[in-house]
Amino acid sequence: MYLDSHAHLDDERFQKDFEEILARMKHSGVTAMMNIGCDLPSSENSVRLAETYPWVWAAVGSHPDDADHVDEARIAVYRELCKHPRVKAIGEIGLDYHYEDVPREVQKQAFRMQMALAQELSLPVVVHEREAHEDGLRIVDEFPDVKGVFHCYSGSLEMAKELVKRGWYIGFTGVVTFKNARKAVEVAENIPLDRILIETDCPYMAPEPYRGRRNDPSLVPFVAAKIAQLRGLAPEDIGKATSENARRLFCIEEGK
Ligand code: NI
Repeated sequence: MYLDSHAHLDDERFQKDFEEILARMKHSGVTAMMNIGCDLPSSENSVRLAETYPWVWAAVGSHPDDADHVDEARIAVYRELCKHPRVKAIGEIGLDYHYEDVPREVQKQAFRMQMALAQELSLPVVVHEREAHEDGLRIVDEFPDVKGVFHCYSGSLEMAKELVKRGWYIGFTGVVTFKNARKAVEVAENIPLDRILIETDCPYMAPEPYRGRRNDPSLVPFVAAKIAQLRGLAPEDIGKATSENARRLFCIEEGK
């Protein structure tokens, strides 16, 4: 049994063959997923999916690319959406200094406002952080009561250990299966198993042997299989452990 902790199944690229993807997920043993918002429309879509399918849960929030739309009015809308019992996290929020589509100061402000909302509502967060390690950790430290996951982790082992020390989780995508994934591999090998989440981040980040193609939640077992190989365990063991980790972090009830 696998839980995809980070998917964007509301993406328009899934519209045509949505039912086929659901069938493939079932076939691959993927029995639960978190659908993650990036902006207001995708946050609303995530809630809708979670309402429709009992094995989907939602996160709502603004990705750093959407940070320039985060103001008090938007926070109020997210606060309302979070009243839905199937919304289990704020996300994805954070910092992206690689693309830097939005100025850094604006990104930091939006990140802080959404961390404050998570604190107010006692919800975990899903963090997107790229090439902003120092500022990312600094803002995490400003909100010691807020826990979450650094998804599609791209930082050092040292920083991963710092996050683990603070009670956070580390999320791995198909990147860990890539030939040049030295850093992600090192982190996946060395952090405690009870802090690891697996995810697709679909439609992006398809694992080998599907690299470069459209990703979907049925491929998350490939991420588990790679981590299992690194740690000398069976893929099912990684599936079970990472599902339990995600359920613990997001307070998702057992079953399904
Ligand atoms: Ni994402």
